[in-house]
Amino acid sequence: MTDNRLNIKLEFAKKVVKHAGAYIKAHMTDTLEISEKTHFDDLVTNLDREVQDMLITKIQELFPGDHILAEENNVRHDINDGNVWVIDPIDGTTNFIVQKDNFAVMLAYYESGIGKLGLILDVMKDTLYWGDGSTTYKNDAQISLSVAPLAQSLIGVSTYMYRTNAGGLLDLSHQSLGVRAIGSAGIEYTNILDGKIWGYFSNLSPWDYAAGAILIAPFGYVTVQLDGSPMSFEGRQMMMSIPKQQLEKLSRPIKN
Ligand code: IPD
Ligand code: CA
Ligand code: CA
Ligand code: CA
Repeated sequence: MTDNRLNIKLEFAKKVVKHAGAYIKAHMTDTLEISEKTHFDDLVTNLDREVQDMLITKIQELFPGDHILAEENNVRHDINDGNVWVIDPIDGTTNFIVQKDNFAVMLAYYESGIGKLGLILDVMKDTLYWGDGSTTYKNDAQISLSVAPLAQSLIGVSTYMYRTNAGGLLDLSHQSLGVRAIGSAGIEYTNILDGKIWGYFSNLSPWDYAAGAILIAPFGYVTVQLDGSPMSFEGRQMMMSIPKQQLEKLSRPIKN
């Protein structure tokens, strides 16, 4: 990481994400204000909004020319236009509400559509995964990951995609030791980085995969739509984060 300008942004991002995690921990036993977004199982809390507002305020204070793409309150910006910070203030809101565990703060930074920095904080484990697309760290230790064969591995899935065999996922799972569903894209990405799962299939929005895609890239992973084409960073898309070799092995594009 030689670019000094990027280093300043990295140090800022680490600090602000850790601060967000501490804020969530300090307030998680307060009475939460929980509201429904699109459906009774699509929830948001006051802490999701407070953390997002806090992150946006700090980014705008320090980097006033940069743009924001964030989950709550419809904060949208084209990923290909200039410097863009992508925020998921609490990933795994349902886990946060019900389990008080298995949720993450995620922040990514892109320049003209190219991923430059990714950060995922596993809040309850106090573990920060961070990187620049060429190296990835878990707290202070650089991660070295050698990916096990599918036949000796588990796959992280969205239960809907698994049940419906979207992308041939059910078929693919028969070549593995089984599937797991955590309910937080961020934690799924940390599980790839910890060698706990081989890959991840889900239906995600940009803020769900923006940081994770950068963090797993150094280990030969791609994050793509089910037909192998790039993510659009607009709306929700069925996608997979898998070793590039597996994508190349597929004789035909995977279809819904
Ligand atoms: C959700 C989680 C979940 C995934 C959903 C996401 P949120 O994020 O990452 O694992 O299956 O698609 O929306 O809403 O809790 O930030
Ligand atoms: Ca949400
Ligand atoms: Ca999310
Ligand atoms: Ca969220």
